Amino acid sequence: MLLTTAIDYTNGKPHIGHAYEKILTDVLARYQRLSGNPVFFLTGVDQHGQKVEQTAAKEGETPAAYVERITAGFLALWEKTGVHYDGWAATTDPRHKHCVQDILTDLKDKGELYKKAYSGFYSVRQEQFLTDRDRDEQGNFGPEWGEVVEIQEENWYFRLSAHTSWLQEFLEKNDAILPTFRKAELTNAIARNTSLDLCISRPKARMSWGIEIPFDPDYVTYVWFDALINYISFVGYGGKESTFPDFATTWQNVVHVIGKDIMVPAHGIYWYCMLHAMGFTDAQMPRLLVHGWWNIRGEKMSKSLGNIVDPNELADRFGTDALRYYLCRDIVIGRDSDFDVERLVMLFNTELANELGNLCNRALNMSQRFTAGVLHCYQPLQEEDHTLQQSLTDSHKNYRDAMENFDVAKALEALNRHVVNCNIYAERMKPWEMNKNPDNKERVATVLYHLAESVAHCAVMLSPVLPDAAAKLAAQIDLPGLLENKLPDLTWGMLPNGHTIQKPSPVFPRIVIEA
Ligand code: ME8
Ligand code: MG
Repeated sequence: MLLTTAIDYTNGKPHIGHAYEKILTDVLARYQRLSGNPVFFLTGVDQHGQKVEQTAAKEGETPAAYVERITAGFLALWEKTGVHYDGWAATTDPRHKHCVQDILTDLKDKGELYKKAYSGFYSVRQEQFLTDRDRDEQGNFGPEWGEVVEIQEENWYFRLSAHTSWLQEFLEKNDAILPTFRKAELTNAIARNTSLDLCISRPKARMSWGIEIPFDPDYVTYVWFDALINYISFVGYGGKESTFPDFATTWQNVVHVIGKDIMVPAHGIYWYCMLHAMGFTDAQMPRLLVHGWWNIRGEKMSKSLGNIVDPNELADRFGTDALRYYLCRDIVIGRDSDFDVERLVMLFNTELANELGNLCNRALNMSQRFTAGVLHCYQPLQEEDHTLQQSLTDSHKNYRDAMENFDVAKALEALNRHVVNCNIYAERMKPWEMNKNPDNKERVATVLYHLAESVAHCAVMLSPVLPDAAAKLAAQIDLPGLLENKLPDLTWGMLPNGHTIQKPSPVFPRIVIEA
């Protein structure tokens, strides 16, 4: 599987939406690896375009110096939050530039590009030409377009319209858009858009921070055309760069993880048509996993509202585990969610510190105290033991079904259900009471075995979301290679009789907020 994220604009600092998308994709990539599937995770930054040029000018920097500084901030955030990618797509990379230029030349040779004069309205903020359809009911261009200027210029165009009927058919025949409820929005947009071609150049006289059009040096490439190509350039498309992976092996089962705002038109229309024009077959087309937005009390985060949530601050204040857990747990894939620090703290304290923390503490602490850390499962088992084992089997199944559907929140819910069942089991069995009678030694050991075995499984299932915490849990369980197990091989009874666990130490210290 090739998993990619959108490449983040470097016209400002990373915000919580950026962090969500990278962490989500990191979790999905780790899950694929845990399932034994080869996966390549590509992410990066979108460094060209007018917005970047303008912001750099405002900051009194050259665009190159500015994007380098902003990019360093993204890199540091992914390092801090445990986002482990295999490929880093930064669009000022000369290897990417050569690939974009080769593609432009090929498309021109194939007759997919043409030059023409056009006069029309242009949104500086959205970096695109507007049409009458973009006007509001009063006939004006709304504030979402920012400054709109009328320009007349010659540019290069991509024959998008030559590919839209193929695209409609492709979308009809394939489940390329995930979740599926987003598909109608896309097909409706295409139906409204069939006759338009895409302007893919900008005259240098107006904007020079981009990749030069190789056959017309007065122009640079439109930032979206350049940015979208990152998905293939950085995994070796064209085969010219020995420093990139092999394209044919890497471009397999491709999923682009993107936010809902960039499905139409960029990914859902431009990108599919670009790939089709380049000669990609239907079987080679990527799927789009379209996620929703993090809002603030129902409102969009924005610089002007001053309500932008800084993931760096959250990671420093609450820890990376709490941030990763919250962003995965408190949003339904495809839907919007409200960002709420109180829920971040509540979910960490309830599901991790209390429920999972309690389970680990009971399993490992009591094993140390009652059986000197030695685990043993004695026969015959009781009905409650079978029920608990069944709970784990169900949890595994539901977890994997959810993850296969990219639904990380539902997977965590499945994991949490088993944790809760373990705690109910512990309270019913009361090993701390049973242990008072030496006749119960074997029964106590068996109950503690069930809890410890569960902790081992939970560590594995938790590992895509909270890799560091899972590693700490695994160290306490002390079973060599526990986290190298592949999910399909996980069955009850990983811990052999006689296995000794390590001394426990808390992995999820409760978050206490100073009043
Ligand atoms: O669109 N909640 O970059 P970008 C969730 N460079 N996700 C959010 C969000 C929010 N509040 N705000 C933004 C770009 N995103 C282009 C992409 S890809 C070839 C080029 C998501 O920095 C957004 O939907 O504006 C997008 O997927 C990603 O963050 C980067 O947004
Ligand atoms: Mg954006």
